[in-house]
Amino acid sequence: MSNILDLALPVTETVNSVNILVHGDSGSGKTTFAGSGRNAGAKDLILAIENGTVSAARSGSKANVLPIKTWSELDQAITAIADDPDRFEWIIVDSITKLQDLIWEEILGEAVRTKPSRSKYKRELQEYGEAQARLSEVVERLNNSDANILWTALSDLETDENGHEFKMPSIHGRGGKQAAWVCAQMDTVVYLSVIEYQGKLVRKFDFNKTPEAYAKDRLQTFRVPQKNLTLAELTEAIVGVGPEETPAEDA
Ligand SMILES: Nc1ncnc2c1ncn2[C@@H]1O[C@H](COP(=O)(O)OP(=O)(O)O)[C@@H](O)[C@H]1O
Ligand SMILES: [Mg+2]
Repeated sequence: MSNILDLALPVTETVNSVNILVHGDSGSGKTTFAGSGRNAGAKDLILAIENGTVSAARSGSKANVLPIKTWSELDQAITAIADDPDRFEWIIVDSITKLQDLIWEEILGEAVRTKPSRSKYKRELQEYGEAQARLSEVVERLNNSDANILWTALSDLETDENGHEFKMPSIHGRGGKQAAWVCAQMDTVVYLSVIEYQGKLVRKFDFNKTPEAYAKDRLQTFRVPQKNLTLAELTEAIVGVGPEETPAEDA
């Protein structure tokens, strides 16, 4: 009889793709960062649920952009990504905050089609559960795929049990539990903000939790905040700490 423990693998062989979420206020530079991958993002795909990829274009990005206007387009894109996960270096979902709006449009549109008398502005109780389940499904399908996924999110100001305010990704539902669940599905959560540093405005990327904002880094990419980071630099840092760093035994 085989022993289930024989199926255990060294941890270095279980790391295949990474899933990262970057949150920050509007204008903090999320989309510009999304377009700043290696070779100006030429091997990356932005699923543009939000308008605003013009920011990436203006900064000289060569990233590929697929506009996503409907649930069906998103569903097709996810299936294609899961079938061909190595076609792009990064898949960027810009943004998960706007994805929630798209899900609600789909649910309410469908509800009005089947019952034209109902208001498309009033959400019914059972629909909240459906909206959350659909979002969770999208996160699981993409994060469980072998593609590297970068999610962007707006930030919301939350209040903890001690009355202290801090920034969390803006993902609604279950009194903050949906946002916490999404964060739990990520290897790394980065908080992006614009600060003044030595008289200049810089983009600050926090990889670790601060009193100001939620962040975490299972990949242990950076121990200190990074200034004006690009996705190309982040990619190098991840590859550098990953199994690729170990020289091949036959080399
Ligand atoms: N690293 C950067 N250096 C200089 N300007 C930047 C940088 N990142 C973003 N910006 C500028 O900030 C503005 C907002 O950026 P954008 O990426 O659209 O933010 P977000 O997607 O978070 O709303 C744009 O005008 C963009 O050119
Ligand atoms: Mg944007």
